[in-house]
Amino acid sequence: MTEAPIRAGMPKGFRSAELGWPELDRIPHPPHRIPLLGDVVGVNRRTPLQDSLRYARRLGPVFRRKAFGKEFVFVWGARHTADLADESRFAKHVGLGIANLRPVAGDGLFTAYNHEPNWQLAHDVLAPGFSREAMAGYHPMMLDVARRLTEHWDRAAGAGRTVDVPGDMTKLTLETIARTGFGHDFGSFERTRPHPFVTAMIGTLTYAQRLNTVPFPLAPLLLRSATRRNAQDIAHLNRTVDELVRARRTDGGGQGDLLDRMLETAHPVTGERLAPQNVRRQVITFLVAGHETTSGALSFALHYLSRHPDVAARARAEVDRVWADAAEPAYEQVARLRYVRRVLDESLRLWPTAPAFAREAREDTVLAGEHPMRRGAWALVLTPMLHRDPEVWGADAERFDPDRFDARAVRSRAPHTFKPFGTGARACIGRQFALHEATLVLGLLLRRYELRPDPAYRLRVTERLTLMPDGLRLRPERRSAVREPASELRCPVPGAGD
Ligand code: HEM
Repeated sequence: MTEAPIRAGMPKGFRSAELGWPELDRIPHPPHRIPLLGDVVGVNRRTPLQDSLRYARRLGPVFRRKAFGKEFVFVWGARHTADLADESRFAKHVGLGIANLRPVAGDGLFTAYNHEPNWQLAHDVLAPGFSREAMAGYHPMMLDVARRLTEHWDRAAGAGRTVDVPGDMTKLTLETIARTGFGHDFGSFERTRPHPFVTAMIGTLTYAQRLNTVPFPLAPLLLRSATRRNAQDIAHLNRTVDELVRARRTDGGGQGDLLDRMLETAHPVTGERLAPQNVRRQVITFLVAGHETTSGALSFALHYLSRHPDVAARARAEVDRVWADAAEPAYEQVARLRYVRRVLDESLRLWPTAPAFAREAREDTVLAGEHPMRRGAWALVLTPMLHRDPEVWGADAERFDPDRFDARAVRSRAPHTFKPFGTGARACIGRQFALHEATLVLGLLLRRYELRPDPAYRLRVTERLTLMPDGLRLRPERRSAVREPASELRCPVPGAGD
């Protein structure tokens, strides 16, 4: 197994961008820069992304921010982002929040450096786990988890209660990836408090985020107790995953899920297999990467549906038409929900839940013919701003309008203008999984409930490496015409109740 050196609290890759930009002075930065501290006036430690969006609006498509002596270059202009998508000149940069996750996810797919051989090995071994056939195999398990959600929402609807949308979507997406990927059941819907694995996972994500906002030399001092807790969280994650793997090795029974692939599949060309420590890292990677982002996407979509009754009615009419009398949709009936999918895309446009990705120059080059970059220099693409570039999305880019994603509108836009899943070789391997799961769940919820918003709620966005609507509650109301799923159509789920 290859492991890049990690310095405690400051992973490799967490270099300031400034060294690689010979003409950095030409790139605008916020006013009122304070010596040593940098651009800290008016910033909020809890909302670094939303602060960057504010600066982006003022400073233009390429700008920089300096915090605690480190300079970062941000890019959001469509032309500049398209240039960064050129795989022959740029690649993924593992830095900031992602590099901070190396102590827990190591050379797992998401956090691997480009040069680490385990990236290609794991990518080739696991990519078939996201094929159409694999997805069709996950569909019944996704339905089974969704049924646990609707049982929970039915009880709330019966009592006239509101539901905690991000909380419930997080339970749903965690159970879905755990079940489909690893045959595991965290029992999230049956618990009153989160599973300890979930608490540990959130702990490590929060810690990784905090490391970004504390001046590096002071991190060991300021975060001493948080660092100790983080080590305990990582140990808990490792123990849980090791137990899961041990159980699979002794009991078998994964029926070709991701864990089976990780343990048993050899690389088609080299015959190599993933080493045990790498399997552990991949399991943690998929459990983390496979749920928070989709949960946020579903939550934002439900927020917009509840606020746009006309859009909800159109989406619901589509579901009723496409699914007709089926008690539960077949796999193919999900892809046919074209308008529901547009609702999801438009929600991901406004709030791409993994809101930035970093690109580094493979060689000395010039970004969009304007900004020289040396080999290794990098920039952060601010996806929520790219998705609001007025040159692409018009002056009303803030308006929620799913028709921006009808086929003709999509064809008329330049490539690389919609990037919620990143770009190139390191783009999201779970894209189809997320889209199938989220479209299915939105379809099920639209068909079963009217979604009543709290009129006083104003969208607030929390940041924890991923984005989530804060405090969003809805009151689901059962629609009278909804059919109960016939019990004989329920799909038996291997490993249910594990
Ligand atoms: C709406 C949901 C999702 C969004 C918005 C999203 C977004 C992204 C983005 C932007 C990247 C690229 C990051 C970078 O360049 O640094 C990425 C990579 C990745 N995602 Fe997702 N993701 C989602 C769902 C999922 C799911 C469901 C899974 C697994 C089942 C998953 C697994 C991964 C993995 C393993 C990578 C790393 C790929 C590699 O580098 O080879 N994601 N995702």
